[in-house]
Amino acid sequence: MPSDIDELRRELDIVDVVSEYIKLERAGNNYKANCPFHPDKTPSFYVSPSRQIFKCFGCGVGGDAIKFVSLYENVSYFEAAKHLAKRHGIKLNLKEESSEKKKLHEIMERVAELYHSKLRENRRVLEYLKSRGIESSTIKRFSLGYAPASGELVRLLKEIRGLEPYLKTGNLLQVEEDRYRDLFRNRLVIPIRDASGRVVGFGGRLLEGEGPKYVNSPESGLFKKRELLYGFYEGISYLRELKSALLVEGYFDVIALHQEGFRNTVATLGTSLGREHAQLLSRVVNRVYLLFDGDEAGRKAMRLAVPHLLRAGLEVFPVFLPEGLDPHDFLLKEGKASLKALIGSSVSVFDLLKKRIESGSDVENSLKDFTYYASFLQDRIRAYTLLSELSRITRIPVDVLSAKMYKAPENSEEEDESRLSFTEKVFLKGLMELRPSVNLDELKLSTKAREYAQSIINEEYYPVPEDVLNLKVGDIEREFEASLSRLRIDIPEEEISEAVGVRESVREFIRSHKGGIRPYSVRRWRGKLES
Ligand code: GTP
Ligand code: MN
Repeated sequence: MPSDIDELRRELDIVDVVSEYIKLERAGNNYKANCPFHPDKTPSFYVSPSRQIFKCFGCGVGGDAIKFVSLYENVSYFEAAKHLAKRHGIKLNLKEESSEKKKLHEIMERVAELYHSKLRENRRVLEYLKSRGIESSTIKRFSLGYAPASGELVRLLKEIRGLEPYLKTGNLLQVEEDRYRDLFRNRLVIPIRDASGRVVGFGGRLLEGEGPKYVNSPESGLFKKRELLYGFYEGISYLRELKSALLVEGYFDVIALHQEGFRNTVATLGTSLGREHAQLLSRVVNRVYLLFDGDEAGRKAMRLAVPHLLRAGLEVFPVFLPEGLDPHDFLLKEGKASLKALIGSSVSVFDLLKKRIESGSDVENSLKDFTYYASFLQDRIRAYTLLSELSRITRIPVDVLSAKMYKAPENSEEEDESRLSFTEKVFLKGLMELRPSVNLDELKLSTKAREYAQSIINEEYYPVPEDVLNLKVGDIEREFEASLSRLRIDIPEEEISEAVGVRESVREFIRSHKGGIRPYSVRRWRGKLES
């Protein structure tokens, strides 16, 4: 009899599965342990046999037995399911999905190869890279490429029978019956690999002409920005060895810093750093240096990233670059040794704020930041120690300081949960997992659901209720779409075309996808073209 993932889930006992990896201790009806996914001194990791889920109240990870194995082994959910099925002698009937996925990975690899070979014969682009100090060994290491006019890509795809599946990734648009448009055409292409080295998407940098500076692959089952860090795969052994990461903002910062020996450099893909990024990092490093631009945007990005990093148990060291210089500029201007010294002289975010307070500069804001950041520390003793120190310096009583700490509406009060409808929960879950761009004004949401949605979209620390986190959804993309239509999303076609600015081709695109186009991917796409 064919089994599927649901059946596998029923067969597995989460306590057995987790026990094969870590030692569990009984705690009433549940089990607990030190969390294996973040540095955890008190057991904040719980396994519930009755609900067949695990959950860490420290770093926030949670899910079913398969999810646990996928996190622990650093493989996809699907790979973990296969692995578990084999170990438990259960036959999994998922062949089709698997071969489809495999095919897609193959196609992505071939496309990346095509782009790479095109770069090597393109003098102009090679000159450009050279002028920016990028060496040919670096071009090779990062498989940088150049996207020619769309026809060549289409020919390759037809040849390897990859056109249909590749269209679904959104990297190639069908504009007419037999006319296609490569999102990256005439751009410098930066292939983006997942943690196991497979090409899952591209970033395309404009070299000349009109258009946004970067175009990225659209979000899809294959390409999930919230889980990807550029440079992570390329630098994995350095990250592991050094136990620290340099977090920068741009692709070129990663590429240039790797080239100059800072091979533990990573960047998000143009988004702010979220919970999943922090979790990914916390599996291999203890400390993260933030090398953001010395401008307002950089400072804002830093403020957004810090809570996620602290929450994942990581030490955070801000490194300040001179105003207007990004790490790559700094490197070109000041050299390797200066960058090294700058990083070496940085102190942790708490020491930094403490120094500011002690020296009497910007005391009020620094105090606010200090208590705010301290509230994300999972190690409560450390948080208390820090506050005591602060109290000693400022003579503000500890309880006054702790009253200032950010109060996350912890662990879902019943009243919050009862106000969310099932559809809203699915919607929120999808919003977290898929991070699509949606316009909340077009949805009917309760005040509570709207609040949660907004904070997820802002990538703030989001106190999403337990039952949303643990909601089991089979096919999240499909369910999310269904929830959207139940919440009555309705984007007038006019608005889409206008925003995209290529009215006709978008109409064509929509027509060619007859009803199959997802409102949220249009939104996402629109955001990209605007930016
Ligand atoms: P260079 O300017 O060539 O040095 O590139 P960079 O990688 O340093 O980029 P920059 O510092 O300007 O921007 C940082 C990151 O933000 C980029 O690497 C992209 O991920 C993202 N980004 C920048 N511009 C755009 C854009 O127009 N659209 C989108 N979607 N992302 C962008
Ligand atoms: Mn740059």
